[in-house]
Parts: sequence; structure tokens; C-alpha cells
Amino acid sequence: MAVELPQAEKTADELVGRLFGASLGMMDVLSVYMGDRLGLYRALRDGGPASETELASRAGIDRRYAREWLEQQAASGFLDVDDVSATAELRRFSLPDAYAEPLLNPDSPYSIAPLARSISACAKVLPELLEAYRTGGGVDWNAYGSDMIEAQGDFNRPWLRGSFGTEILPAIGPIHDRLASDPPARVADVACGVGWAGIAIAQAYPGVRVDGFDLDPSSIDLARANAQRAGVSDRVTHAVRDAADPAAAGQYDLVVVIEAIHDLARPVEVLSAIRQMLRPGGSALIADERTEDAFTAPASEIERMYYGFSLLTCLPAAMTERPTAGTGTVMRTDTLRQYADEAGFTGFERLDEPALEMLRFYRLTA
Ligand SMILES: C[S@@+](CC[C@H](N)C(=O)[O-])C[C@H]1O[C@@H](n2cnc3c(N)ncnc32)[C@H](O)[C@@H]1O
Repeated sequence: MAVELPQAEKTADELVGRLFGASLGMMDVLSVYMGDRLGLYRALRDGGPASETELASRAGIDRRYAREWLEQQAASGFLDVDDVSATAELRRFSLPDAYAEPLLNPDSPYSIAPLARSISACAKVLPELLEAYRTGGGVDWNAYGSDMIEAQGDFNRPWLRGSFGTEILPAIGPIHDRLASDPPARVADVACGVGWAGIAIAQAYPGVRVDGFDLDPSSIDLARANAQRAGVSDRVTHAVRDAADPAAAGQYDLVVVIEAIHDLARPVEVLSAIRQMLRPGGSALIADERTEDAFTAPASEIERMYYGFSLLTCLPAAMTERPTAGTGTVMRTDTLRQYADEAGFTGFERLDEPALEMLRFYRLTA
């Protein structure tokens, strides 16, 4: 549950209480990150209740650290403990059944471990962030490391693998009709990250061919492995390529860009390249943050989450290039409309349905 915003009078007590609670929350998040990355939750789920010695041996960590983590997790209510009065060596801890899915199933709509991974990745680059804020420079997406890249893929994975191909695209008439008709459509997944959008399209629409592009080589490696495991690598390719590369002109019936326009240093240049990638009658489908139409303060929890990521990752990543639009995560509909206009799109449709809790879709046509 998010920390309450002050509703009325701002007092020192209220601020201290709020930041104390937020600090506890931050420690919870970092402790969840450790349990996730060290395989501790998995070891508890797979092997059942464990003492400190059993957990240390199952997960391959030091026994003394295992004790501290188990006690902290029980103290914070993430784990159950069989007997608080037993000696430390004999206490056994278990993962509540209801917590296994959010912590361990990356395809679940409840999946929450990626959030801990992405926040921890931001903490890792705080010195570079301070330097960027002073100089006006940026922090490269790659500097956040594999925690951030995998977390980004895992944020969108549940809905991309769940409802994108089977419910969302079928609800967008012109796009579904083209994907479902012959000759088989060609699709580009621009700034594809670890590739789930293109993979989902290929799985939902047999015969369709998808090319995924991203600037980040490690994302492309993961995307290729994901396509292979999903059994669609004969129809889905991935390449390290700038989204503004004109080489793909005139080849695609659909271009999808999932949660990436606000990250681009050159969104108009990229949208212009995307417009030129489309064949006559083609569409660009953009998914980006479901922001309010105007700045509000205090704002909703979701808007505050966008601002948090904007401060810590999306804006600094876009500031690595010069010139840069410096959009930030809180890209409002009017901003995207302006980028699309400048890129030469004549059709701009904001789709309020279908929508996700944190993302909305836009359909752009040449
Ligand atoms: C927030 S991630 C979104 C990735 C993916 N679409 C998803 O939803 O998981 C933004 C992606 O944009 C990529 N990117 C940024 N600038 C790019 C550019 N000029 N060309 C291609 N990809 C770019 C980054 O490497 C990163 O993978």
C-alpha cells in the first residue's frame, strides 16, 4: 500500500511519520530483491518450510545471513514462522501460499518482484544520477544493468503474454482485421526490449512475421532466447537497430511501440521513420503511460510512480543524447499528439478501450 499523502495541514510529525514508513517500505523492497535474486523465495516454495541451515544449504548462501533474512522477513510479515519462542537454529520459516504467485510467477498479473528489481537498479546508479542532474548529462539505460532490463521485460510480460494477442488486439478492429487476413502481415516491434510484444503477436496470428528492433544488445539477446523458447523464432527476428533507421521503409502493415516513446531522445525522428515504415493502410500502435491529461498535485499513486521512474531512469536515459526531447515518463496525450503531428501522421486516435491499469494505447495512421 502506498504511503498516504498529506490531506490537510502539513506538519513535522506527519512528514517524519510518512518518511519513516517510506523508509521501512524501501527496506522491505530491498529485502524482497535479495530474496528474489538469491532464489530464497523459490527455495522456500519448492522445498517447503526451512530452518536457517536448511535455507542456506538449499539456496547456497551463508547460514548467518540466512538467519537474518528469515527473521527480517518474518518480522515484516512476508514469511510465517512456526514457533517464535524456539531457539534461532530450530525456528522454521515458510512462504505463505498466497505470496508465491506474486513473488515467483512472472506470468501472473500479480507479479511484483520486477518492481523490486527495477527500484534496486535505480539505487545502483545514484552516484551517476547525481552527476547527471548537476551537469545536464544522462545515464545510459545499459548502466542500470540486467536487473533493470529483465525487470522492464517482466513488467509487461503478464499482459503481453496474457491478453495482448487474445483480447487487446482483437478489440482494435482495423489492426485485428489486417493481422488476421492474407497475405500474412509484417509487423515491426520497435524498441522491443526483450521481445514479448512481437512474440505474442506471432503466437496469436499464425503466419504473421515480426521483426523486433532495439538499440540495446543485451535486450536483443534475451529477446532472441525468448522467441526461441516460445517456438516462434522461425517467424520472429530480433536485431540491434536504431528505431530511426530508414532501412525498414515501406515494409510493415503494423508497427508496435510498447512503453518506449517517452524514453526516446528523438521521438519525432523515430515516429517519422515509423510512418515511413508503414505500407499503405498500415497502423502504428503505441502503448505508453496512462497519464492524466494535465499536471495535478497531489497526484494519484500511479502518476507518482511515473514521476518516480522519470526521476530515476526514463528521463536520465533520454538525456544521454544531444539533442534530446527530454520527455520523461509522464508523457501526456497532448505531447504524443504533437510528436505524431510533427512526424507527419495525419490520423491520431487515443484508445480509451482497451486499456491497462498503467498503460493506454494510441493508433496512428499515415
Ligand atoms: C522502457 S524500455 C521498453 C522495452 C519494451 N518495449 C517493453 O515494453 O518491455 C525502452 C526501450 O527503448 C529502447 N530504445 C531507446 N532508444 C532507442 C532507439 N533510438 N532505437 C531503438 N531502441 C531504443 C531501449 O533500449 C529500451 O529497450
